[in-house]
Amino acid sequence: MTSQIRFLMCAPEYYDVDYVINPWMEGNIHKSSQERAVQQWQKLHHVLKEHAIVDLVKPHQGVPDMVFTANAGLVLGENVVLSRFLHKERQKEEPYFKAWFEENGFTVYELPKDLPFEGAGDALLDREGRWLWAGYGFRSELDSHPFLAKWLDIEVLSLRLTDDRFYHLDTCFCPLANGYLLYYPGAFDSYSNRLIEMRVAAEKRIAIEETDAVNFACNAVNVESIVVMNKASDALKKRLKRVGFEVIETPLTEFLKAGGAAKCLTLRVNEPVREELHANTYVESQVVRMEGHLLDSGLINRALDLIIDNGGSFKVMNFLLGEQRQSTSAAEVKVSAPSHEVMESIVSHLIDLGAMNLPENEEDAKLQPVIQNGVAPDDFYVSTIYPTEVRINGEWVKVQNQRMDGAIAITQTNQGRVAQCKILRDLEIGEKVIVDVQGIRTIRNPESREKRNTEEFSFMSAGVSSERRVELIVEQVAWELRKIRDSGGKVVVTAGPVVIHTGGAEHLSRLIREGYVQALLGGNAIAVHDIEQSMMGTSLGVDMKRGVSVRGGHRHHLKAINSVRRHGSIAKAVQAGMIQRGVMYECVRNSVPFALAGSIRDDGPLPDTQMDLIKAQEEYAKLLKGADMVLMLSTMLHSIGVGNMTPAGVKMVCVDINPAVVTKLSDRGSVESVGVVTDVGLFLSLLVQQLDKLTSPYTAEIV
Ligand code: ARG
Repeated sequence: MTSQIRFLMCAPEYYDVDYVINPWMEGNIHKSSQERAVQQWQKLHHVLKEHAIVDLVKPHQGVPDMVFTANAGLVLGENVVLSRFLHKERQKEEPYFKAWFEENGFTVYELPKDLPFEGAGDALLDREGRWLWAGYGFRSELDSHPFLAKWLDIEVLSLRLTDDRFYHLDTCFCPLANGYLLYYPGAFDSYSNRLIEMRVAAEKRIAIEETDAVNFACNAVNVESIVVMNKASDALKKRLKRVGFEVIETPLTEFLKAGGAAKCLTLRVNEPVREELHANTYVESQVVRMEGHLLDSGLINRALDLIIDNGGSFKVMNFLLGEQRQSTSAAEVKVSAPSHEVMESIVSHLIDLGAMNLPENEEDAKLQPVIQNGVAPDDFYVSTIYPTEVRINGEWVKVQNQRMDGAIAITQTNQGRVAQCKILRDLEIGEKVIVDVQGIRTIRNPESREKRNTEEFSFMSAGVSSERRVELIVEQVAWELRKIRDSGGKVVVTAGPVVIHTGGAEHLSRLIREGYVQALLGGNAIAVHDIEQSMMGTSLGVDMKRGVSVRGGHRHHLKAINSVRRHGSIAKAVQAGMIQRGVMYECVRNSVPFALAGSIRDDGPLPDTQMDLIKAQEEYAKLLKGADMVLMLSTMLHSIGVGNMTPAGVKMVCVDINPAVVTKLSDRGSVESVGVVTDVGLFLSLLVQQLDKLTSPYTAEIV
């Protein structure tokens, strides 16, 4: 029986693996057997001829991949969008395919130069003709999809490929008759998987395993109830049989060496058009502008990478390279995304990097009212640590209380309109919140190259230091501490109990006593162990002088807690003479405010520990206001909490023996955060020594 289905094929006379443009071709150059390739191709040709009409295009020397006619173009009705190959090796096929389409009466559409699209290899019609699935990520550019929609007048659903073994959509995705879909979910990003699941009902989805996928089971030709492919596992055959398909296996191993199989070797050239359906593409684009030391600072790479990583694609429209060492560059980048949702996530990241709209495209920020206390409208813009401005009635308004993970609330006050970052629970009915990503920009000062190189603090910004650099960093931190103290600035310390266990208490006490610390943040534990040590000389029962456990020592910290509770507070215990040294003692004596935030595991707790976490966060925020530097000493919990509340521009030094904690905190991507992987006791002792050096009288060396 022959259906009216028509395929185009190209005999493998000149087929070979001549170059490497996909992972399958690696190591296979000239490794395919010509003889076997011909046999395998003929067998496929024979099988298909029993079920459909097969046309042939004349093969040509020098274009070995021309056998893969799926990549000739994309046909719908009388129209064809000709492929624009990504690789120059295959671009030579374009004129041959174009001639064939023209000779056979098709209207040929050609994409703009440099906009790759690889035909039916990357675009597959739903078998009911309801829409077109189009792939991007490796060979075809997302920006080609709107052209397909326009020229073929069909809805396009863009799917992003993420595994380079499945570089064409037809290597991992095969719509079948009756609305079934054979596909390998692992080849797509999660957004695309969600899109597939939204369009194809669960009982119609035939998701396959990797073992079948790498045998090109999805690279199948479906004619009514038969599915022709290279090879399928028994399980897959059974599954397909249950839903009415018969698998015909025909080995195509020689073509697998070039990264193709049954479907790649064919092109359906009589796809019926459904007249009642029309284009409706979701691809959104927007042009953003970036300025600064785009190349030196790697900003442009970061921007372009993040567009791709978040599922979009880009085109650099203009790039004005600054010519002198000092001059900045400017770029205009067209960003495309398969949906508004994806566009929003890309743009919000780009905003963090300082990207802006072109002046002519500037729009006001979108506002939505708060209708329930403590709850933001869906789709609210999540604030970052960077200084932000929002556009309201044509004017850019600076956002106050900049912090991470808040919403931007707009309120009308006597002084006019105010924009401020607020944590969700503080939002109130009557306020308006910025939603979407329009009309928002961050002000990143484009540090001049010179400044980046000489600024004392910034040389450490390369991120996490190795042990060898600890001393160097200590010198820099000491210098900063001294500078801040002398200019009446503010240093906030967050400290974990490890500071006490590692013998850092005496050093931290000194920093406080000598005026280098203006506020202390921590949990119940740092205070408990500090007080235990000042009262009994142990920290969690370990004798700090001898380094051994003391008999019954595990009860020491409870005794310390009990004594403070008897006095009512740490300050009162200090006044009563019960606590005579240590970190907490120095805080009380020197009027350095502290906040202790409670947690579920706290013993006691001390009367000073704030067990209402919302209040504790407020206390932290209050003490952090106006800080010039935050010294984070071995506490992941409190340091990350503090990091979230602190705007960009505050220097942060994070000391922890665990590199993961340090990386997490120095991830702020800014010049001002430094990570030191080392023992915190050691760090503090070096720091104190270094401060001593800075204070000792100057003596010129006389020789
Ligand atoms: N070697 C060819 C390439 O990498 C194989 C093409 C396979 N075709 C396909 N529709 N998947 O371009």
